[in-house]
Amino acid sequence: MKVLVVGGGGREHAIIKKLKENKSVEKIWALPGNGGIALDAECHPVKATDIDGIVAFAKENKPDYAVVAPDDPLVMGCVDALTNIGVPCFGPDAKAAIIEGSKVFSKDLMKKYDIPTARYQTFDNIKDALYYLESAPIPTVIKADGLALGKGVVIAETREDAVAAVKSMMEDHKFGASGDNIVIEEFLEGPEVSVLSFTDGKTVVPMVSSMDHKRAGDGDTGLNTGGMGTIAPNPYYTDEVAARCMEEIFLPTMRAMNAEGRTFKGCLYFGLMITADGPKVIEYNCRFGDPEAQVVLPLLDSDLLTIMQAVTEERLSEVEVKWKDGSACCVIAASDGYPVSYEKGYEIEIPEEVIPYVYVAGASEEEGKLVTSGGRVLGVTAVRPTLDEAIEASYDMLDRIEFANKYYRADIGQRALKALK
Ligand code: AMP
Ligand code: GLY
Repeated sequence: MKVLVVGGGGREHAIIKKLKENKSVEKIWALPGNGGIALDAECHPVKATDIDGIVAFAKENKPDYAVVAPDDPLVMGCVDALTNIGVPCFGPDAKAAIIEGSKVFSKDLMKKYDIPTARYQTFDNIKDALYYLESAPIPTVIKADGLALGKGVVIAETREDAVAAVKSMMEDHKFGASGDNIVIEEFLEGPEVSVLSFTDGKTVVPMVSSMDHKRAGDGDTGLNTGGMGTIAPNPYYTDEVAARCMEEIFLPTMRAMNAEGRTFKGCLYFGLMITADGPKVIEYNCRFGDPEAQVVLPLLDSDLLTIMQAVTEERLSEVEVKWKDGSACCVIAASDGYPVSYEKGYEIEIPEEVIPYVYVAGASEEEGKLVTSGGRVLGVTAVRPTLDEAIEASYDMLDRIEFANKYYRADIGQRALKALK
């Protein structure tokens, strides 16, 4: 079995390490992969957004299966393109990936099918948006319609901030065409839970729940990032909440996409907030989260490739998806200054015994050495019987990895620990 994986971050590294547990996998190509992924897969410098380049690579190398992991190629139709040349894929086609690609689409879908979410209005011109803000409840949340590298959401604490956010999106085009349409929505409060799921359009199988830590600084301060660490399972996701989510959110979403002629096959990610009124959808993603995948996949006790192929072939209900007991913690080490500006090119030293637990995000290989090349450099995941132990073990491993300008949050998992106590 030869597998092609599109993407080149920590999430893709976690997917690749898990796929390799299947003995029938003899080869994995990563496009583009990175210097750390190169230890586990053959990397080729084809960008994840270069759909023509990916198709050309697949025609030449004839993979038996492909996993398209990042949002951009999914929204751009990478799965459609690979499927057209006969490569079976894990991931939604472009018609279904719109659930992440357009916030206006996803909000309208939830409204039409009564899926609980924040109340909202959509705007396609700045005049109406500014008029609405004159009387909107504050705080309010402004979202660019399209993909914006996870930065297209502004929580405005004042009316002035809300106006500035709308202007930056619709007047200054901070996110390009992604901000031509915007959503302004109600500010919700409550703990956040990420639930990734496998779905083939007939069955939804939720994965173990997780908690991301999006802000750059300890105590959830500072700028939003791609994610500074994760833990799983998330203690706020009780059995009772899980049952409600299945009935009120997961199944209705799957059915809604079917009814719209946009059957979703792949990993559907539910970003949830557990409010006083029950669980509500904050966002959908059409893919594994990063760094959620780095805690969820190490807890998977079943074979990932078997599950993925069952999703592609619409027979997910026939396979077993089992989870390990225990908890996982992933702490991300970034380059100091991320997410604003940072230096790169520093050598990374990872002790041999830690390598199996490292997921590399932003590092390249130069003259046989691994050097930093991105904001988020790597993550380290420990799986242990309790969350306490998982946190301690992942920090212990991270401390043994060295590179100049290493920065990480010291409090990954602390909020979850408090909730458990
Ligand atoms: P997103 O980029 O959609 O993941 O949003 C980034 C973060 O903004 C989320 O993880 C939430 O913490 C926050 N957020 C998004 N929408 C809302 C909302 N309606 N109310 C409160 N917080 C929100
Ligand atoms: N960690 C959040 C995401 O992948 O969107």
